[in-house]
Amino acid sequence: MQNSEHNKQDMKPEENPFPDLPAETFEALKSSMKEIGLLVPIVKDQHGHIIDGHQRERAKAELETEGHSIKNYQVIVAKVESGEQRSLLAYDINLLRRHLTKEQRNKIWAAMRARGMPFEQIAAASGVAGSTVQRALRANAKTDPEAVTGKDGKRYPPRKRPALVVVATSAKEDERAREVIEKLDCERDHPITVKRAERIARDNASQRRREEVGEMCTALAGRADIRCGDFQGVLADIDDASVDLVLTDPPYGAKALWIWDSLGARAAEFLKPGGFLVTYSGQFHLDNVMKSLCAHLEYVWTIAVVGQGPKTSVQRRKVFSRWKPVLVFCKAPFNDSVPWHEDLYRGSGPEKNLHEWQQAEEEAAHFIRIFSNPGDTVVDPFVGSGTTGAAAVRLGRRFIGCDIDPAAVKIAIKRIEKADEENEKSVA
Ligand SMILES: C[S@@+](CC[C@H](N)C(=O)[O-])C[C@H]1O[C@@H](n2cnc3c(N)ncnc32)[C@H](O)[C@@H]1O
Repeated sequence: MQNSEHNKQDMKPEENPFPDLPAETFEALKSSMKEIGLLVPIVKDQHGHIIDGHQRERAKAELETEGHSIKNYQVIVAKVESGEQRSLLAYDINLLRRHLTKEQRNKIWAAMRARGMPFEQIAAASGVAGSTVQRALRANAKTDPEAVTGKDGKRYPPRKRPALVVVATSAKEDERAREVIEKLDCERDHPITVKRAERIARDNASQRRREEVGEMCTALAGRADIRCGDFQGVLADIDDASVDLVLTDPPYGAKALWIWDSLGARAAEFLKPGGFLVTYSGQFHLDNVMKSLCAHLEYVWTIAVVGQGPKTSVQRRKVFSRWKPVLVFCKAPFNDSVPWHEDLYRGSGPEKNLHEWQQAEEEAAHFIRIFSNPGDTVVDPFVGSGTTGAAAVRLGRRFIGCDIDPAAVKIAIKRIEKADEENEKSVA
């Protein structure tokens, strides 16, 4: 807290380093902005302080007060770590547009060089020869206390971290850019869009969750093994013919139809002969689901699970749905030591406190009792909140599961750990 207060003070906006435009030029800017909009973007830091574009922002504010809206609004948000970095950026941006003193210009060139820009590129941006830039920087480095000595014994400007720059193209994006740039701690040589910045932030957060999940997974070693990632990759190491039951609940939508073929193929490999695949499927794409699973496994039966909750209305088919199919397949030959059971199961009602698509735990326990024995291995490649895993460990089965969503995996691990502890206590 103290640190962030300190940083904020460090970052307090400096005065505009460039003089105000003469009144006449300012009026010309205003009238051009009124007609064609903002031609040169305004640059702000992550706190909304203007780095470049004080005059444009002032003209925009005046025009808006006069009732005009500005076309082509574009803001560049740069993440700066100090007031000095902000000033350098301001100079840098102004290089081509302002008449600068030699000292200011050299400072900007040094900053550009420190970011790894070749002499020729700096020269091209400044409209001078490469040798001019080189000469000026050598002279500058001799007296710059921050300069470092290279292997060749010459003095060079220090390498500095470039500011992260995000480009926003509307007032709404401007807010999003400032919000997301605070979450990012990475280097980028080029400006990035708000969408790209948000994607990087999401990926980083997901990577952090994966790391947390990785640490949590070891806790259950032996009785349950829960992994995070796509089932095709993270379950690849399960030995062939080593699993007794796959009890699962994949996503049902049209976009997820590819899953069924892959699930059927993988289950056919790791199920023992006579092992079962028991799966929820939804009704809408049942034809495709059956086709995909039948390509790899033997169809056994369909069990109707009748819900106790409100009926679901399926608009496109004009159906009030009151039951859900649970499909039973096996890896041949059919294991007839399976106990007699009914093909209709009355559920105890919806349980949705942990996951949007959560199934009831007693339902999972019902199928595990029928289609496996204590000590068997049960797999669920789509664990969600861990319903199958919790029921499996309570019933003394070994469990392997995964989910692509790290948030779901965290919930599942905690839930299965709790079920395992309760089971141990009840056995003791
Ligand atoms: C219908 S939900 C399962 C809910 C679970 N039965 C429960 O009771 O909580 C399906 C799950 O599959 C996961 N998923 C989707 N695609 C996946 C993939 N390719 N690999 C692993 N998991 C995936 C989703 O993140 C989601 O949690």
